[in-house]
Parts: sequence; structure tokens; C-alpha cells
Amino acid sequence: IIRITLVLITGYLLGSLNTSIIVGKCYGVDIRKHGSGNAGMTNTLRNLGKTAAALVVLGDILKGVLSFIIGNLIVDSGAMVSILGSHLPAAAGVGGMFGGIAAIAGHNWPLYFGFKGGKGILTSFSVVMMMDWQLGIMLLGLFLIVVIISRYVSLSSIIACAVFPAAAYIKGNGTVFTVFALIVALLAISRHHANIKRLINGTEPKIGKKNKDNS
Ligand code: G3P
Repeated sequence: IIRITLVLITGYLLGSLNTSIIVGKCYGVDIRKHGSGNAGMTNTLRNLGKTAAALVVLGDILKGVLSFIIGNLIVDSGAMVSILGSHLPAAAGVGGMFGGIAAIAGHNWPLYFGFKGGKGILTSFSVVMMMDWQLGIMLLGLFLIVVIISRYVSLSSIIACAVFPAAAYIKGNGTVFTVFALIVALLAISRHHANIKRLINGTEPKIGKKNKDNS
């Protein structure tokens, strides 16, 4: 329990380093006051361009990966395997999953930036890659197909997240993995409520177009 608490705190503190807010500050803007108002890669691309967005991709992925690795290092996976038995997939340690989810929470509600962060898609993706890279590549493929067809990043994120727990279950990754996948998916989808409203209203901006909405 102490180790898991440590993993959660470390993950949360690392995840709170919301790269889009930090990169935005370097460009002299608060990214949360522009475009969709979201502190994420898509809104950074929309307002600050490709270089800034690339930095956000790097930072948000790095903190997810680091939190996952630190989580697995702190929590003794050998002991976890004996508790959870066959429910635990060999590749993905429970410590890593806790660390990853804490990093996503930190990204969404960052300690250092007034608890107003992003939607955690990139960080979630990095955690999915660490949990099961084959599943991660499959979901990235699905995401890209939906982006290419629809031009909506949010819709693509929502669809990929919704498929994640179901795909993990069908792939036979076990109960613990599937529960973690469900938490990751619910966290991400629940952050998209404004996007869902805009998608229904037909006011959601397509990728590559400037957006003046500040919700
Ligand atoms: O990664 C977040 C994306 O799904 C939506 O971002 O800025 O269009 O709300 P945004």
C-alpha cells in the first residue's frame, strides 16, 4: 500500500508537468485561453504550430512512460503476480498501470497549474503502449484512420478510447488489465464532454482549421 501510494504521488507529480502549458509559456501564451481552451497537443498545434506541438508530443509521452517505469520499479511485480495470479498479464505490471493512471490524472488536473489541464490522450497513449504495445499500435491505427476520414481529433480520440478496454478483453489480457483499460478510457472520454456537444452541434473544428471557440 505504501509503495502504491508512492507510485501514485510520483506519477501525479510527473503528470502535472503539462507540456502544452509549459511550451505555451515559452511562447508567451496561456494555451488554455486560446482555441478550444484545452491544454493539449491538438490545441497547441492549432495555435502555436508544428514545432510546439512536437515538443508537447515528446513531453506528454515521456512523462507517461517514466511514470509507468517508475511504478513498476517501486512496486514489486513478483509479489503482485502471487496476489493476482493469472489475472495479471506478464508484460504489464500493476505498479506501472497505477503510475500511468496517476500521470494521466496529473496531466488533466495539474498541481502546478491550478488543476486546469488537458484530456490526457497522448499520456494515455504512452501508458497503453507500455501496457501492451501491439494494442497501442492497433489503437493508433484506428485513431489515424478516423482522423483521416473525419478530420476530427476529438472523435478519433473518443473512438480509440472506447475500443481500448473491449479490445484488451477480447485479446485476453486479463481482468486487471481490462479494468485499468476501462479506467483510462473513462478518464479520457469524460474529458471530452465539450467536444461531444460540439460534435453533435456540428461546431467542432476540424484539424487544420483555426478555432475561435473558447470553451
Ligand atoms: O487530444 C485532445 C483532443 O482529443 C481534443 O482536443 O483541443 O480539440 O479539444 P481539442
